[in-house]
Amino acid sequence: MAHRWTNDLTRADATPRGLFLNRRQIMAGAGALGLGGLAGRAGAQTALEPNSFEEITTYNNYYEFGTGKADPAKNAAALDTTDWTVTVDGLVDNPGTFPLSELIAGLAVEERIYRLRCVEAWSMVVPWQGIELKDILDRAGVQPNARYVAFETAVQPENMPGVRRGVLDFPYVEGLRLDEAMHPLTIMATGLYDQPMPKQNGAPIRLVVPWKYGFKSIKSITRISLVEEQPATTWNDLAPSEYGFYANVNPTVDHPRWSQASERRIGGGLFSARQDTLMYNGYDEVAALYEGMDLKAQF
Ligand code: MTE
Repeated sequence: MAHRWTNDLTRADATPRGLFLNRRQIMAGAGALGLGGLAGRAGAQTALEPNSFEEITTYNNYYEFGTGKADPAKNAAALDTTDWTVTVDGLVDNPGTFPLSELIAGLAVEERIYRLRCVEAWSMVVPWQGIELKDILDRAGVQPNARYVAFETAVQPENMPGVRRGVLDFPYVEGLRLDEAMHPLTIMATGLYDQPMPKQNGAPIRLVVPWKYGFKSIKSITRISLVEEQPATTWNDLAPSEYGFYANVNPTVDHPRWSQASERRIGGGLFSARQDTLMYNGYDEVAALYEGMDLKAQF
């Protein structure tokens, strides 16, 4: 079988853990939808029926390449991913700047079919391939005083029209609390639909945190820093009353300018009626991370 992964792992090297998680997610989705928990029931299946490759790669948010949904597909070909390196620094035992292949060498690549819910109230379902972020962090050796993980996207002004125009304060930065970063649902995705990550989706490696609004899932990562204090994050910095640091999908906490109770599923043609948004985007297993927190205040 041809090697499809930049780190030379094939799908056969992946552990069955991803399939297990997918099955659990289908069950979680079915339960949340009140369908009695049977994965075979139509509603639950619809919920995790992946969008087409075409839809996933032509309707994007990647402001470095423009603010229109079609701009990344049009402009991201210019992203230079050759000799990509990722710097791992801060409170780790093994800091360094690693070629991507070295960063992920030997780590299990799994398929994860996840819902992606954008803060703009649209959603799709994406069959990612990726590595648990935990595996990368474990190898880095997280030190006991680290409490957050900060991420940074590449800045290539010559290749990125949105950077040249200054549509946001670049580099795009994001962050997670350490326990969120270590959760088994959190992946560093290197591909989708068994293809290397398309540039408009964040080649060659991007974060995917399926229970949070899509803006947390930062693309084309060049730096991962373990830090003690909650790091600055792009959208929260820009409009703190509109975009929280946590950004957990929550149908009961509206965006100040629109409702988050429902979402428009991209694609789906005739039957693309709005669907109810699920707490934690249906990934109820993360609820324990937020016990005791006021989710209206810490949105
Ligand atoms: N990462 C960077 N570097 N720049 C961006 O503009 N947009 C975010 C997130 N990651 C963004 C980013 C938003 S708002 C969403 S919804 C998702 O990417 C979209 O991912 P997709 O285009 O693969 O669906």
